[in-house]
Amino acid sequence: MRETWVVGAASNRFGKMKDSGREAATRVALAALRSSGLAPKDIGYTFVSNCFGIAEHQAHVGPLINGGLGIPDVPSCTIESACSSSSAGLHEAFVHVAGGFVDAALVIGSEKLSHLDTLAATSYFAIAADYPFETKNGATFPGLYATLATAYQATFPTRPEMLGAVAIKNHANAARNPHAHFQKEITMGTYLHSPIIASPLRLYDCCPFSDGAAAVVVAAKEFVKSPVSEPLVIRASARAGSITEMQDRPDLLGLPATRTAAAKAFRQAHLEPKDIDFLEVHDCFTIAEVLALEDLGFFPQGTAAPAALEGVTARDGRLPVNPSGGLKAKGHPVSATGASQVVEIFEQFNGRAPGREVPRTETALAHNVGATGGSCSVHIFSRR
Ligand SMILES: CC(C)(COP(=O)(O)OP(=O)(O)OC[C@H]1O[C@@H](n2cnc3c(N)ncnc32)[C@H](O)[C@@H]1OP(=O)(O)O)[C@@H](O)C(=O)NCCC(=O)NCCS
Repeated sequence: MRETWVVGAASNRFGKMKDSGREAATRVALAALRSSGLAPKDIGYTFVSNCFGIAEHQAHVGPLINGGLGIPDVPSCTIESACSSSSAGLHEAFVHVAGGFVDAALVIGSEKLSHLDTLAATSYFAIAADYPFETKNGATFPGLYATLATAYQATFPTRPEMLGAVAIKNHANAARNPHAHFQKEITMGTYLHSPIIASPLRLYDCCPFSDGAAAVVVAAKEFVKSPVSEPLVIRASARAGSITEMQDRPDLLGLPATRTAAAKAFRQAHLEPKDIDFLEVHDCFTIAEVLALEDLGFFPQGTAAPAALEGVTARDGRLPVNPSGGLKAKGHPVSATGASQVVEIFEQFNGRAPGREVPRTETALAHNVGATGGSCSVHIFSRR
């Protein structure tokens, strides 16, 4: 395998976009290319994610984006893996570049849903669960993650303030991130007085519905003679799956796909959790951040929630988690989320995250989950 780098990355501001998903994807792809010093003609493949393009009456968007980039003859592949779509795209780009099939590839994720109301958006999202067993019986993602939170609280003593601490931290980080949907801090009072969405989860436990787009340029070390930005060396690119239906899982105290993907990733990278400086993890709901940190091996079961309250995962804590603001507050435009986690790591490595810098940026891990864990990606990056 060839040493493979992330050489460029860009995101727009998440929230509500005027652009269509396709237009936003093209713009962020050009911005990512600018940050890499490469040109569209250097790209051998584009991996494009746009799960809910159908809500914009557009499928097969990859060739259209390539056309907009001036490379209509370059192959594109549309990748759908629910909320982990663009990290799945990153994995495919890694495989193609590391395997020598192409020298450089673009990973693009874009989503636009703000023209839908909450009911319609919730219904669209819910089709990523198991339709006959979960969705058709009324399950939604807030409901499914509330089930995970209930199981966790029933097993480990978890005060509401512990999940609140995750939300407060991520809002504080997002308040310093120009790409973030919500750029406002919240207090514990705001959290505790926010309405219940799906018990025990409150408004501030939930990620919002966001539009947004993000792109990442992946290239072989030998192809990039003199990088214009500090590249991220891809030390591991691991994917895993697990039983989608929650009723068939042996327990609800974590996501099996995260555990499997993490084990593979640490093995590939020859690293352990103690070697990682900071993380971007999949916190679609606050409980998801807690489960991720335990499943990834950073905390023993039952201890990540109290650790949040103690400030361990704050930007200046022992293990900074989600300096971008995470899905909770940076926002969650499903297909763009995985790529946007890499944008944050790229900006941190390049000193382009003013006001939200983490203390050490030698290594970082990105963790991105599809739905309630039917799929998962874990990537580990380090400096050259
Ligand atoms: C939590 C949720 C139900 C709120 O929807 P809603 O009640 O219709 O809220 P609205 O869109 O009407 O917004 C009402 C206010 O709350 C804010 N808001 C909405 N969602 C928010 C969230 N998740 N966190 C913080 N604030 C939020 C809005 O900005 C708005 O503020 P304003 O009055 O100051 O403008 C919705 O955001 C949701 O379902 N989120 C989860 C999305 C999801 O499941 N994603 C997939 C994960 S796997």
